[in-house]
Amino acid sequence: MLNAMLKIAVLGSGKGSNFAALLRAIARDSLPIETVLVASDNAEAGILALARGAGIPTYIVEEEKYRTKLSPEVETALVERLAQASPDLVVLAGYMRMIKSPLLEKFPRRIINIHPSLLPAFPGLEAWKQAHEAGVSETGCTVHYVDAGMDTGEIIAQECVPILPDDTPATLHARIQEAEHRLLPAVVGRFAGGG
Ligand code: GRF
Repeated sequence: MLNAMLKIAVLGSGKGSNFAALLRAIARDSLPIETVLVASDNAEAGILALARGAGIPTYIVEEEKYRTKLSPEVETALVERLAQASPDLVVLAGYMRMIKSPLLEKFPRRIINIHPSLLPAFPGLEAWKQAHEAGVSETGCTVHYVDAGMDTGEIIAQECVPILPDDTPATLHARIQEAEHRLLPAVVGRFAGGG
């Protein structure tokens, strides 16, 4: 199986800088990874534009903005579309909703997420702001398996980022994102057998 392509589906709600970093790493390092689908719950999301530009199939998750979790019909439709794409790994790259049943059951231990803190510290929203307000000296980013909790799944890899005296939440977030752009491609590359 070493030479087989790892098929990934990517879910995101925002600008997609992590997905862009992943695409760059795949091209730069000739990683045996094929992105079979990019799905977003935000029709305007940059991640969809990136995917279209790269000729990757896209899917829009039609859901009300206020829901933190998809309604059952919408989640079932997403699972069906994902099953059709048949990924080996589902990558959450800035996907802002909770993942529950039946998506978790469909891809057991095959959904990973990138989170902007050193979990288990600072789960949830705006983790860089939480770390900045807490006055800790370092934070970072984590790639972890997704379970039914909020950023609670088994940790796969982390990268530390120091918090500097003159950091604002924005400068800290920018530096964490630079670390994310190294960590996520490295982890997905490992799933693909790329070292
Ligand atoms: C990242 O900071 C990630 O840690 C968080 O959402 C953000 C997504 O950014 N879960 P982008 O859309 O990849 O630029």
